[in-house]
Amino acid sequence: EQSRIYRIASIPGDGIGVDITNAAEQVLHKLSSASGSTFEFAFHTFDWSSRNYLERGWYMPPDGIEQLKRFDAIYFGAVGWPDPDVPDHISLWSLILPIRKHLSQYVNVRPTRILPGTTSPLSNCPPSSLDWVIIRENSEGEYSGQGGISHEDTPYATATEVSIFTQVGIERIMRFAFETAKSRPRKKLTMVTKSNAQRHGMVLWDKVFYQVAEEYPEIEIDKMLVDAMTVRMVLNPKSLDTIVATNLHADILSDLAAALSGSIGIAPSSNLDPTRQNPSMFEPIHGSAPDIAGKGVANPVGAFWSAAEMVRWLGEEKAADGLMKAVENVTANGIKTKDLGGDRNTQEVTDAVCAELESVF
Ligand code: NAI
Ligand code: MG
Repeated sequence: EQSRIYRIASIPGDGIGVDITNAAEQVLHKLSSASGSTFEFAFHTFDWSSRNYLERGWYMPPDGIEQLKRFDAIYFGAVGWPDPDVPDHISLWSLILPIRKHLSQYVNVRPTRILPGTTSPLSNCPPSSLDWVIIRENSEGEYSGQGGISHEDTPYATATEVSIFTQVGIERIMRFAFETAKSRPRKKLTMVTKSNAQRHGMVLWDKVFYQVAEEYPEIEIDKMLVDAMTVRMVLNPKSLDTIVATNLHADILSDLAAALSGSIGIAPSSNLDPTRQNPSMFEPIHGSAPDIAGKGVANPVGAFWSAAEMVRWLGEEKAADGLMKAVENVTANGIKTKDLGGDRNTQEVTDAVCAELESVF
């Protein structure tokens, strides 16, 4: 039998994005051989980064999005660098946000669990009490890019940052969230807004949520305001399962979720085009971590988990499960980076996962 070849566009980006993308590629190559070689990965690396922007004045060439469309999936490290010539809004809006928008990746899936051998900073939270999936709206809302600034650099500077909420945009993210809840054992969905204070867009969210809910009578639903949600995540994590929220709210809540599960270094994210007309993009939720960049100590677990989600999206369920099992065996054995309380570096954790992959299949 000839093995399938998955063509992956690899965008390491900046800082630890480079280290963890390299680690993920090593593990994915190992995965294809260890799981029986019915598939292989062909990576094509794009050098779209802040360093190159500073040298040549661009992140992506004009046909960058067209180039990405030819791949089966995109693996992304991180973008952003603390240089006054490249503020974070330039780096985000030159690379990752255009990819998400132009490739219609309107869903961002962010699972959180406490992995074996790791502990939550919450004193009363065993692993069984925290198992969430946050579904983030990824194409509009607060990050729609509408607005402007007038009278710039004067005392009368005036800026607007307009949030966009559309019936179509809300309905499709709600439907995805209900399907996710349906696929999980507890069949429970919590919807987050701030519709008491933000009385237009968020009220539409609420309305569409209840409309779509009628198609899913088997799902237990509830609604939270985002401020109260932070309290519930900390004090009653067990009461939550699947969570759906806007672009901004879910961005913030998922960093909190990652911290509550042990470290931001373990959390994955999938930017999905559920119609599959465009490639989807997989990346850990953390950024470029300039404080530890170049030291070889970044936690690669979020990168491996993101890689597993990519493998699952490509249809290789068994391989995805095997990769997660290998990662969990490694954390259970105490082979962890410093952010998880361990003393191993990126390459040591990567080697340990590759070794585990030999035995999980
Ligand atoms: P960050 O996630 O890069 O770092 C926050 C803290 O977590 C730092 O102390 C860092 O050392 C630690 N950390 C993050 N990932 C880790 C890992 N894998 N292992 C161990 N420790 C880890 O967030 P920050 O500092 O706010 O942003 C740094 C840059 O990254 C900025 O330019 C920001 O715009 C960008 N960024 C990019 C994202 C992306 O590419 N999707 C997402 C978030 C931030
Ligand atoms: Mg974030």
